[in-house]
Amino acid sequence: MLTAEQNRLLTSIVPGTPMGDYLRHYWHPIAGAADLAGDPIKPIRLFGEDLVLYRNRTGGYGLVERRCAHRGADLAYGFVEDDGIRCSYHGWCFDARGKCLEQPFEQTVLPTSRYREKVGLKAYPVREKAGLLFAFLGAGDPPQLPDWEPFSRGNGFVQVVTADVPCNWLQCQENSIDPVHFEWMHSNWSSRMRGEDGAFGPAHVKLGFQEFDYGLIYKRIRDDTDESDPLWTIGRALLWPNGFFLGNHFEWRVPVDDENTLSVSWIYAAVPENRRPYVQPQIPSWKSPIADPETGRWITSHVINQDIVAWVGQGRIADRTRENLGQSDKGIVMMRNRLFSELKAMAAGERPKGLILDGEPNERVPLPVANRLSLGAAADSSRFILHAGQPAAVRDQCTEAMGFEMDISGVV
Ligand code: FES
Ligand SMILES: [Fe+2]
Repeated sequence: MLTAEQNRLLTSIVPGTPMGDYLRHYWHPIAGAADLAGDPIKPIRLFGEDLVLYRNRTGGYGLVERRCAHRGADLAYGFVEDDGIRCSYHGWCFDARGKCLEQPFEQTVLPTSRYREKVGLKAYPVREKAGLLFAFLGAGDPPQLPDWEPFSRGNGFVQVVTADVPCNWLQCQENSIDPVHFEWMHSNWSSRMRGEDGAFGPAHVKLGFQEFDYGLIYKRIRDDTDESDPLWTIGRALLWPNGFFLGNHFEWRVPVDDENTLSVSWIYAAVPENRRPYVQPQIPSWKSPIADPETGRWITSHVINQDIVAWVGQGRIADRTRENLGQSDKGIVMMRNRLFSELKAMAAGERPKGLILDGEPNERVPLPVANRLSLGAAADSSRFILHAGQPAAVRDQCTEAMGFEMDISGVV
């Protein structure tokens, strides 16, 4: 349980808040690169700021404030140039650093004026990696963009899936250090939704939590496993500060504002041995729906959709003054305490946890993989259960890669 003030401190991430400043020390995935393949301009809200993400005509990316510096027109309705984005109202053009490159009429009537040097847009760097676009919204020089090992694993079909989640980032991230929910939310609830009325699935009997360089690890033993099981010897990783890594996929909970989160998943499925070597021509990206348009109810058929039901069910900003924590929540307490100590350390000018700074090793950085043995086994790749709504085009690409059609019906 937290006080209202503590809860506000951890959850509020809009400009000027300590947690917003803290989270801006990290690179955040904000879209799939494929999201800009059609329309090269995408409005996006991050950390309480309205921005536009774009791909210019020479392939470079920009992330700038959404309102034009001239008279505030919406740059989401601008158009891209070789080296920037141009406002459709009076043609002012800005590069990826927010510098004003052109003010057509001003330059015609006052050719020697240096006015354009005095105006500009707020701008943030963007990098492409593994089919994702990452942005750095902090001050000063960015750290290195982590080169996590799975990004170059190869011989797999990767897809990026995003979802708009109408709640605060922290309750989504608390899910990353909450092993017991697997038993109930994914296993037992799914079996009941399938109409199965028998005994519940394996139950958790022991949990372990520990820190590692890039986050926290949780470990579990269920009544069908023992201490030799990789989910105990290796475990799964909460990736600091807002990621989750489960061996074959990453999830990030990227703050949009205090009451909304962009869920970004990077999902790998190994192709069967007989399809290797396999090089994926491009990584598709799609948005998963979270509500049924007919009933308005949340979608419950797929694993991450089920998680989202829990997150949004806790309210727009979970009220942690009213919770009653138990033994299953030790990891959540550990994470919150680490966040509090990180905020103190930031105020003292210390280095935030889990960054890879300039000059430090950043090549195929390994992360804990508890399911290494099953990666590549057909059984591991025959179903796509994580997100509802996979588009037919992505399904076709996946079928082509795998040599068979994956079952996308979910777990219910
Ligand atoms: S408002 Fe953008 S150029 Fe005038
Ligand atoms: Fe889950």
